[in-house]
Amino acid sequence: MRILALLLVMLVPAAGPALKDLMPKGMLIGAAINKSQSDGTDTVADAIVEQQFNTISPENILKWGLVHPEPERYDFEPADHYVDFGQKHGMKVIGHNLVWHQQTPAWVFTDANGQRLSRERLLERMHDHIKTVVGRYRGRIHGWDVVNEAFDEDGTLRKSLWRDGIGDDYLLKAFEFAREADPQAELYYNDYNLWKPAKRSGALRLVKQLKDAGLRIDAVGEQGHWNMTAPSLDEIEATITDIAGAGVKAMITELDIDVLPRDPKMFGADLNARQQFKAATDIYAKGLPPEQQQALAKRYADAFALFLEHREHLSRITFWGVTDAHTWLNNFPLPGRTNHPLLWDRQGQPKPAFAAVAKTLEGK
Ligand code: XIL
Repeated sequence: MRILALLLVMLVPAAGPALKDLMPKGMLIGAAINKSQSDGTDTVADAIVEQQFNTISPENILKWGLVHPEPERYDFEPADHYVDFGQKHGMKVIGHNLVWHQQTPAWVFTDANGQRLSRERLLERMHDHIKTVVGRYRGRIHGWDVVNEAFDEDGTLRKSLWRDGIGDDYLLKAFEFAREADPQAELYYNDYNLWKPAKRSGALRLVKQLKDAGLRIDAVGEQGHWNMTAPSLDEIEATITDIAGAGVKAMITELDIDVLPRDPKMFGADLNARQQFKAATDIYAKGLPPEQQQALAKRYADAFALFLEHREHLSRITFWGVTDAHTWLNNFPLPGRTNHPLLWDRQGQPKPAFAAVAKTLEGK
């Protein structure tokens, strides 16, 4: 018996701390997963997700273009696997997202002849989509990003095909339809750069409008696509307390810390310029050196210490990905770089940033 027990100890890898067990009560911790994780082929990432997290988000699977690629065709298979995966592991399953200006097919906004739809017909299309997708997972998806990224940096509404086609009330309509489709599901507004006060003011205005209209909104998500210096801890803190001050929970929904140089000119650069930017900025292609590992660990530890301070305002922290092997930041804003924004490296080994987060949570 003793030998058997010893053998088992040697064979089963040391589990180490699980973030989900270290989080304060009421604050979920999760990661966005993609198809190869929800269908079980990425066993490295799956082992981490199952051990560490109690909530998952769909990195792409539930976006309009993937779940509803053609007018009369829904492709629910990947999404069904995703929801099953989360339920099987007792996780809170998040829906992302219902209304966005990206990853939404062009046909959504036009009729069979390519003419722009009237307000009424576009509203009908939005309604059908939300009713079908939210309705299918009623009672199984815990909360939905109803509208994603609707504001410009100055806090005014972003120009988009949704806004052009329906009018400024398209956001309220989306929330109305989502509540109708699943009255129990939590409903969220989600955006990036809400740490910038001007942009945040737009989201807070929306919260008030929804509340004044008697509609449901549970939380606002700051995506948390941050870098090594911005936003400052003060800016993160103001984001959390302002959102809470509007009477909803705050969440960090897509957390990752970009360690590579970024330049505004990278967006929309032509091929030649992109290659030049890549050559100049893909500086950790051979791995993240120890000094940068430590700096990243500190950045994460500082952020989590702040999250702990505001535990009563924060309902969820979700990383945008699991390991550095598959982070979207390997391809954004430039394709083909080697980024290192998450807590696990390309082999699925915990980085110093993982230990730093665990230690911060242990000290709570
Ligand atoms: C990204 C995914 O990570 C990529 O795989 C995809 O190619 C583009 O979208 N804000 C969001 C997310 O709300 O949906 C985006 O996800 C990242 C930015």
